[in-house]
Amino acid sequence: MQWRNSPDRYGHFSVILHWVVALTVYGMFGLGLWMVTLGYYDGWYHEAPEIHKSIGILLMITLVIRLAWRFLSKPPRALPGYSTFTRIAAAAGHALLYLLLFAIVISGYLISTADGKPISVFGWFEVPATLSDAGVQADLAGQIHLWLAWGVVIFSVLHALAALKHHFIDKDATLKRMLGKAS
Ligand code: HEM
Ligand code: HEM
Repeated sequence: MQWRNSPDRYGHFSVILHWVVALTVYGMFGLGLWMVTLGYYDGWYHEAPEIHKSIGILLMITLVIRLAWRFLSKPPRALPGYSTFTRIAAAAGHALLYLLLFAIVISGYLISTADGKPISVFGWFEVPATLSDAGVQADLAGQIHLWLAWGVVIFSVLHALAALKHHFIDKDATLKRMLGKAS
């Protein structure tokens, strides 16, 4: 098992974090869209947002760890076959994905704490409210959150299509490396 990244491969820690975050993001997207359609008398009306917020905070913590890990253990070098355009597009695309991920969890936090109440994470611990203004904050953050959710899903699908193009058309090791194999 190689946990750290090396110049020619992603270590298992980065690989696991990448796929856990990807699955969580798609799950949270479905959960978010579904939970806002629930009526007051639905059994999940209170429960679903609590689950969405709890997983959201755990995702936020995971993202901080993931970004810190990127500095502690440098990601592998670009593959030698990449053009300059591919290198720049990949770096810019990854930076945008990180930006969208942080923006979506922060906007979610701001919706949830707009009334000044803390977020309880599965009853294990609480995250206090910082900015709170029950007026416009919840609505504005809610709208931004929805746009960001679509943004991260659409952009990550384009990112996945690029990875599949590298795998099936260019037949290079881009996707294999994100599955924990060396290039
Ligand atoms: C990748 C992470 C996330 C995704 C993909 C996501 C996605 C969504 C989606 C699609 C909705 C429905 C929006 C609508 O139709 O108005 C939603 C609502 C919501 N999300 Fe998230 N969310 C994420 C993270 C978070 C986090 C971290 C929190 C809070 C800590 C949060 C709190 C909320 C709340 C409170 C709502 C309800 C908003 C309303 O009632 O209009 N979300 N989310
Ligand atoms: C919500 C879903 C996803 C998000 C947020 C996401 C995010 C990211 C980020 C931020 C990186 C850069 C990692 C780093 O070096 O720090 C990355 C790399 C990568 N992702 Fe994703 N990803 C998602 C889904 C997918 C899917 C579905 C696939 C494949 C079908 C995929 C394939 C890859 C590959 C192959 C790399 C390595 C690229 C390289 O070496 O240049 N990702 N992803």
